[in-house]
Amino acid sequence: MLTETYTLSNGVKVPKIGYGTWMIPDDQAAKAVKEAIQLGYRHIDTAQAYENEAGVGQGMRESGVAREELFLTTKLAAEIKDYPGAVQAIETSLKTLDLEYIDLMIIHSPKPWAEFQNEEDHYFEGNLAAWKALTEAYAAGKIRAIGVSNFEQVDLENLLENAQTPPMVNQILAHIGQMPTEVIDYSQAHDILVEAYSPIAHGEMMKHPEIAKMAEKYAVSIPQLAIRFLLQLDLLPLPKASSKAHMENNAAVDFTISDEDMTALKAIKSLDYGSNSEIPVFKKVSKK
Ligand SMILES: NC(=O)c1ccc[n+]([C@@H]2O[C@H](COP(=O)([O-])OP(=O)(O)OC[C@H]3O[C@@H](n4cnc5c(N)ncnc54)[C@H](OP(=O)(O)O)[C@@H]3O)[C@@H](O)[C@H]2O)c1
Repeated sequence: MLTETYTLSNGVKVPKIGYGTWMIPDDQAAKAVKEAIQLGYRHIDTAQAYENEAGVGQGMRESGVAREELFLTTKLAAEIKDYPGAVQAIETSLKTLDLEYIDLMIIHSPKPWAEFQNEEDHYFEGNLAAWKALTEAYAAGKIRAIGVSNFEQVDLENLLENAQTPPMVNQILAHIGQMPTEVIDYSQAHDILVEAYSPIAHGEMMKHPEIAKMAEKYAVSIPQLAIRFLLQLDLLPLPKASSKAHMENNAAVDFTISDEDMTALKAIKSLDYGSNSEIPVFKKVSKK
């Protein structure tokens, strides 16, 4: 599964499971990334906001696997909504990662995190300015594909209607118990690959009895069920794991969930984020 790929609208191939690195401190990121690569992961997801790009880039360089066999995503910080700021931030990412190119760079959020719950201002102009910088870096060969994250349909429409290069990816919160079907359908209908972040609900899914029961039925772990569920919907899961055992477990998803059980899993709505409910991306959903 780690070597299977999706193909983006511009023809670039992306490994179907990505290794998430949010909350892995910079001084531990190189080791974690090297371990993941040694276990067969070929797709690594970081962000300027994670403050671990240096460690992630180091892990990739020291992995012993050729650069062209690896796929690296980073994210333009959510607060950068101006053209010169975005141009500079892209250059800073390239320098910090110490890589010649980035495979995928995405706008982390349509709104700065402090404004994430604000339904009124969508920063349409700011996102077009940031997009212009990404588009130019893409044209210059510094980035192989460009996209967005946490974009709702109106945010996607803003780019599709006003920019020449359409986004190739939309990375959103999607997991059993939290399936934003409208934006998924809209993205997929516009040839935008949907990446599913927090596939294990940031760990909270481990406490869900109904999901645990279904995992038991397939003799798999809850994360394996959660990852397989997303793959069967043509989404790209981005599980994060600190331990090697978890990394290995999350990649062993070569089983099939029946149509009937997929329907049952899609119907699960009751999942809350517990002590993580105040983190902007989880707070928005928790409040609905
Ligand atoms: N674009 C965005 O705004 C955004 C937002 C959030 C996340 N993301 C991306 O999505 C990635 C994943 O999301 P996430 O970090 O929120 O969490 P997640 O992948 O949903 O869950 C991670 C948690 O699950 C545990 N876990 C993982 N595999 C396990 C296994 N096989 N068995 C038992 N426990 C397991 C991890 O424990 P251990 O660490 O102890 O292994 C950790 O506590 C991030 O790292 C990031 O790359 C993007």
